[in-house]
Amino acid sequence: MVEVMIFEILVPTLVALIVCKRSNRIKRKRMFNVEDGIIKVVYGKKVIFVGGIEVVDIDPSRLYDEYYETIRQYSYALQRAAPGMILEIRLVKKPIAVNDILAKLEREITSLRVLKMSDPTDVKVDRKLRVLEKLYKVLSEGVPPASINLKYLLYSNELNKLRSEMQFISVVLENLLGAKVRKINNRELKRLINVNIIKSKDITCTAESLGLVYPHVKKSDINGIYIGKDISTNEPVFLGYDDLTHHVGVVGSTGSGKTTFLASLIYRLKTLSEDVDVTVVDPKGDLRYILEKVDLEVNVITYHGDPRLRNEKINDIMLNILNEIIEMNPTKRLRRLVVIDEAWIVSEELMEELVREGRSKGVGVVLSTQELGDLSDAILTNTHTMILFRSNSIKNEDLYFKLLGEQYRLLKALPRGEVFLRHQGHVKRILVDVEEILQVLTSTTLKSSIPNSSSTSLALLKEDGGNSE
Ligand SMILES: Nc1ncnc2c1ncn2[C@@H]1O[C@H](COP(=O)(O)OP(=O)(O)O)[C@@H](O)[C@H]1O
Ligand SMILES: [Mg+2]
Repeated sequence: MVEVMIFEILVPTLVALIVCKRSNRIKRKRMFNVEDGIIKVVYGKKVIFVGGIEVVDIDPSRLYDEYYETIRQYSYALQRAAPGMILEIRLVKKPIAVNDILAKLEREITSLRVLKMSDPTDVKVDRKLRVLEKLYKVLSEGVPPASINLKYLLYSNELNKLRSEMQFISVVLENLLGAKVRKINNRELKRLINVNIIKSKDITCTAESLGLVYPHVKKSDINGIYIGKDISTNEPVFLGYDDLTHHVGVVGSTGSGKTTFLASLIYRLKTLSEDVDVTVVDPKGDLRYILEKVDLEVNVITYHGDPRLRNEKINDIMLNILNEIIEMNPTKRLRRLVVIDEAWIVSEELMEELVREGRSKGVGVVLSTQELGDLSDAILTNTHTMILFRSNSIKNEDLYFKLLGEQYRLLKALPRGEVFLRHQGHVKRILVDVEEILQVLTSTTLKSSIPNSSSTSLALLKEDGGNSE
């Protein structure tokens, strides 16, 4: 009886186990160099050729808006045009060298502290110190931001097909993106194939799924304004200067924190890049109040006249601004920022013109309003970054759904200071950081004790003249 059991059950099981183990061992990958940029991978009885191409010289900021869609569409087309070929795209995140930036910040902060000691009344020094200290804190304690590297891995069982596709893909990438393309050397190729995806920081995807993954961080250097931290990764989040020229929408109910956020954005921008002209259109005067408190040299357009004429007057001024922008020379660099609080007051036609014109003239537009529905389709398509604060009542659910998916339902319960940021298909939940503004607003001693020697130039207040003509 027992012997029968041993032969009928135990032995076959053992044999099966051994075979299984064997085949595991046999199936281990072995890799051989074929030529520069191509290796042969032998996996059990299967043989597959793998080639790698890296896009070098890629301007990470352009990866976001210009390259990305091109790469996505092209990758998708390639996948369909070359059946049997697997195309894998790796977006490799590399943390940037924060230490250099920190060292530079440290030097600047030290000299500002010395300046402040010699003249404690200098508001500009004080302001710069606050912003730089904040930046230093964020960069030294947070997860460092990263840059993005784009790599293509091509797999095929036919060597010739792989060669010709690699040739083709290089030419297309070069022509399409104006980027330099190089073959990934064999040693790195092996590393990339072996890399444990779970452990690595690489984001891997196929051509079809590229639309679903999106690099978190785009800068190889800090070239933007710090706005807060990603709640899930704790990474600092920056609004790049070119994000600003591609316009920003800020949406949320009254009291959700929009105006304070705008003030903080302007505060940091003006402190770090004084040469960027900031024009604030503030029909209600809330933003002007904060900007005056923090002593910023910003052109604020506000309205005090007959409320029935307000919208018309504001629109007249907007038309003047638009005409000024139309006259400007084209550039991609951010030269001017037009911040419109309560943007629903401005006519749709004017705003559409403004975002369209602004983009080619280095003029960023930040539109703040209560409902997504206040912004027309044309405005929404021309506004690449959307920041959504708490919204108590959501009228056009479909618009919110389009931006955030099901997450839009969370908008109703967002605590103050939390936002959803959407940038070209990628959504992040962020805790905004408006510390310097809140500090100034709550500290009564700070500003009032300082003689306002420069205050005349600080708020170059362009009054509307609504009832004085
Ligand atoms: N991130 C924040 N943390 C704490 N308090 C905030 C924050 N943002 C705004 N507040 C406060 O909340 C109140 C409403 O903010 P405000 O910016 O005027 O909202 P909104 O413009 O959306 O109506 C203000 O008293 C402001 O000081
Ligand atoms: Mg407000």
